[in-house]
Amino acid sequence: MNKDAERLIRDSWMRLVPVRLTAAQIFYERLFEIDPSAKALFDGKPMHVQYEKFVLTIDTLVQTFDFPASIITDLQLLARRHVGYGVHLEQYASVGAALLWALEKGLGSEWTPEVHRAWGELYLFVEGVMKREAAGTATA
Ligand code: HEM
Repeated sequence: MNKDAERLIRDSWMRLVPVRLTAAQIFYERLFEIDPSAKALFDGKPMHVQYEKFVLTIDTLVQTFDFPASIITDLQLLARRHVGYGVHLEQYASVGAALLWALEKGLGSEWTPEVHRAWGELYLFVEGVMKREAAGTATA
């Protein structure tokens, strides 16, 4: 990822500070709407806790994504835990779509094609690491 894309991600995530929990809520509402199979995995979970985890996860990613070596092991472990949660590989696409949707809603007119592309690239990186690990785990 080039420096411009990194800056766009950092700046846009900073702008969301006042509305991050709302963006998290929008993310889950959108996810459950486009992929009811994902909803079942969260049945009975207190959603406000998930909203906080969502914000914390993105925060960590935004702070560390320019050092891929340092986050790959964490993402692999996260992917393995997701196999345990019953997450399927196809659901990663739904999560990506819901994430971009929530960011777009939160950023409004600041959601430019360049910002869209930068977040899309970041998600593809994270999803790629996690899906490869999950696929390896499932066939192991
Ligand atoms: C980029 C991809 C993803 C990231 C960064 C991510 C991040 C996280 C984090 C940080 C947690 C907290 C628990 C832990 O650390 O193990 C979590 C839990 C969870 N995630 Fe994800 N996740 C991703 C993709 C998905 C997908 C595709 C699904 C499927 C719908 C999913 C469903 C869940 C579920 C069911 C839990 C457990 C909730 C609970 O029991 O409290 N996640 N995720």
